[in-house]
Amino acid sequence: MSRVALVTGGTRGIGAAISVALKNAGYRVAANYAGNDEKANAFHDATGIAVFKWDVSDYAACGEGIAKIESEIGPVEVLVNNAGITRDAMFHKMTPQQWHEVINTNLTGLFNMTHQVWTGMRDRSFGRIVNISSINGQKGQMGQANYSAAKAGDLGFTKALAQEGAAKNITVNAICPGYIGTEMVLAVPEKVLNERIIPQIPVGRLGEPEEIARCVTFLASDDAGFITGSTLTANGGQFFV
Ligand code: CAA
Repeated sequence: MSRVALVTGGTRGIGAAISVALKNAGYRVAANYAGNDEKANAFHDATGIAVFKWDVSDYAACGEGIAKIESEIGPVEVLVNNAGITRDAMFHKMTPQQWHEVINTNLTGLFNMTHQVWTGMRDRSFGRIVNISSINGQKGQMGQANYSAAKAGDLGFTKALAQEGAAKNITVNAICPGYIGTEMVLAVPEKVLNERIIPQIPVGRLGEPEEIARCVTFLASDDAGFITGSTLTANGGQFFV
């Protein structure tokens, strides 16, 4: 029987590409989404991938959603923590709400999700956790004190948990995408994107969601069992660590 993969934020943007790539690689895929029913239903109709709605910032909702997936599809063996939001503002204009929303989704969401599949992975002695961080968690980004803090936190979470999972054959890795041509990036003011961001990308273009999805498929595979606690950077050469 093929493995079950759960992708948060898996019906749009990078997450949609990840869900499709995992399906094409033979996984039984569940795609979580938080709010956009229309896009999620269209995604389901186009791909046949099952979609499940809950907010990853809500611990209880994560528990209920995962229990539903496990009873309908099977135990989650691959978890891709991809769901993320932006609430960009210069720090002097950033509100506590903008701070908390981003931390709660982009950082606490990883705890909320991973905590609920971890015991099952330990019991079965197999698991793959792939956390989608960001170039802006590595280098920081003006207008993103909240997002950069959360995404940097995701890297610490990855490295700590990798050490705990290793003896149980659970790998925990992070991917740091650069600027990818999704709705999130295209929401950046056009002038900033064209004059400030794209010129900083040596390959001269935004990345494509499928380029991140291929990284996930590799890290989720049995072939990647010796790779854990690592950060895979895919940013067109914009930033090296
Ligand atoms: N890189 C370089 N310069 C930037 C910048 C960036 N990413 N973002 C803003 N600036 C510059 C602007 O060009 C502007 O400079 P000038 O005054 O010299 O023209 C200055 O910062 C202030 O910007 P604004 O005039 O736009 O000020 P604002 O208060 O109206 O808006 C902002 C500030 C909300 C940060 C807005 O500029 C913005 O959204 N910037 C983009 C921030 C960004 O890069 N977000 C990443 C989103 S994509 C993502 O998060 C996915 C991922 O993982 C990579």
